Amino acid sequence: MNCLKENAGSLDGKKIVLGVCGGIAVYKAVELLRLLTKAGAEVFVVMTENARRFVTPLTFQTLSRRPVHSDLFDLIREQDIGHISLAERADLFVIAPATANLIGKAACGIADDLLSTTLMATRAPVLFVPAMNVNMWENPILQENLRKLAGLGRRILEPDTGALACGTEGQGKFPDPQRIFAEIEGLLHDRDLLGETVLVSAGPTVEKIDPARFIGNFSSGKMGFALARIARLRGARTILVAGPTSLPAPAGVEFVPVVSAEEMRQAVLGRLAEVSVVIMAAAVADFRVAEPFSRKLKKEETEGLTLRLEKTLDILAEIGRNKGGRLVIGFAAESENLLENARRKLAAKNLDLVVANDITRPEAGFGADTNIVTLLSADGDCETLPCLPKEQVAERILDRVAAERRR
Ligand code: CTP
Repeated sequence: MNCLKENAGSLDGKKIVLGVCGGIAVYKAVELLRLLTKAGAEVFVVMTENARRFVTPLTFQTLSRRPVHSDLFDLIREQDIGHISLAERADLFVIAPATANLIGKAACGIADDLLSTTLMATRAPVLFVPAMNVNMWENPILQENLRKLAGLGRRILEPDTGALACGTEGQGKFPDPQRIFAEIEGLLHDRDLLGETVLVSAGPTVEKIDPARFIGNFSSGKMGFALARIARLRGARTILVAGPTSLPAPAGVEFVPVVSAEEMRQAVLGRLAEVSVVIMAAAVADFRVAEPFSRKLKKEETEGLTLRLEKTLDILAEIGRNKGGRLVIGFAAESENLLENARRKLAAKNLDLVVANDITRPEAGFGADTNIVTLLSADGDCETLPCLPKEQVAERILDRVAAERRR
């Protein structure tokens, strides 16, 4: 099966105007532009005269694959796209870095160059990413202007605190471009899971043999992390309970790292009262070492070593027994009789939906960036999805949650 990797970017088809003001952080806006285009966004860059002194427009032009706009009176371009058309075509307007000057102009309705004029003409949501010296940041005039803009529905991303380019310390640092990117993704996503609290479990659990060794499994955590990231983007409060993986916690998600099946059980069940949707994507160990060694075993002691294993408790079955009004979704990782086994788990664990995947296929299951799943629901519906990136599989699973909640 060919995997549908095209159109995989989380910002595919989104039109973003990136306004760049003059400041030392301009070079970091280049990185932000790279993240946006990589995610599939069409980015139209507008630079102020001062921004052009820090980084040449050619850098932005190359990365956005479009001419960079600066001049309000460039009539040839004005006919072609024009500031009004730029303002109208935007799904989102981002000003990064936003200087005190631009913020002041925006708050007072001053439109005296292409960026401030385009900003006046847009109806798109606007995100300001201020970056400046700490004294300017703390200036009550700037703060008043920001309050005014926020009161009018503009979104302000607070700058970071740390060593500033001017040699001082304090608040005013341009945020990490990844953080700005996460904010932009959130602003552009449908927020159809607002009001839900989604708990996702992810990754393997590992069971100690001695302080240095364990029994684990091949789960990478990618499917569960994708689910948590997308649930958050769709507006849900999201809790991610994850066994050991090498993945970074997605932005905005409450991250609860655990190690063993029992730790995962306690972390999940302990939070259940606050949760409206549970998605158990973790590959929870079915057995653990009955009596783990408290000190590291020496080689000589391992001759003919036998480990006695005992069963762990089934977290999902326990949740199914105390379901209340929650939506409960499980996974069925199978190497044979996929649908039959998945159906059995759906019924036995009292689930609303089971996501079945055949872990013997190279494009699916453990470690892969893609997955091929069949969604089986309690009402008998059965849908096999094509091979998709795990984030898109996550979108489709969460579409089911949103649809169920609309009923
Ligand atoms: N699960 C769980 N607690 C366990 C084992 C599994 O909550 N101790 C959950 C998994 O997170 C998954 C679902 O149950 O959502 C099915 O897991 P899977 O390993 O496919 O099936 P098992 O029920 O363990 O059955 P088997 O290993 O026999 O296939």
